Amino acid sequence: MLAVCPGSFDPITNGHLDVITRASTIFEEVLVAVGQNSTKQYLFTAEERVELVRDSTAHLPNVRVEELSGLLVDFVNARGGRVLIKGVRFAADFEFELQMANLNSVVGGVETLILPAASQWSTLSSTMVREIAVHGGDVSRFVPEAVTRRIRLKSAGEERADG
Ligand code: PNS
Repeated sequence: MLAVCPGSFDPITNGHLDVITRASTIFEEVLVAVGQNSTKQYLFTAEERVELVRDSTAHLPNVRVEELSGLLVDFVNARGGRVLIKGVRFAADFEFELQMANLNSVVGGVETLILPAASQWSTLSSTMVREIAVHGGDVSRFVPEAVTRRIRLKSAGEERADG
């Protein structure tokens, strides 16, 4: 069975990777859908976010990655999927996911399964990673290696542009 893991992944964190990895042990196929939330501004372009998720999941043979455009339920139905996987850290996540899950179920007949975030990553967010990164801090313990490398390249490029 195919499961879809949707998100913005700006950038992918160790918490996301943990959920994707656990999903890949439960489902035959996992498709990571890298989407746009129209209310958000992104640090990484869609192409960069897709590439970083691809690099970070390259060791998982039953995981593939695609950019999501349009409605998530249309994307899932077009690929013959029926199930979304969402990682949830705390109550605020759950309330938001409950709303989205109901909508996606009513609008598109797509069910949502929730995986609790691993305790090690239960307070980690892409927002915090971006905040550390833009101030030149070290994010290496929170994100896959491909992301650390990309952030270092970005900062080096910006320093060169400034200097
Ligand atoms: O990581 P995020 O920002 O919570 O991911 C949100 C995302 C991209 C999965 C969501 O915004 C989405 O599904 N966008 C596609 C458009 C859509 O179907 N919106 C309705 C979902 S309730």
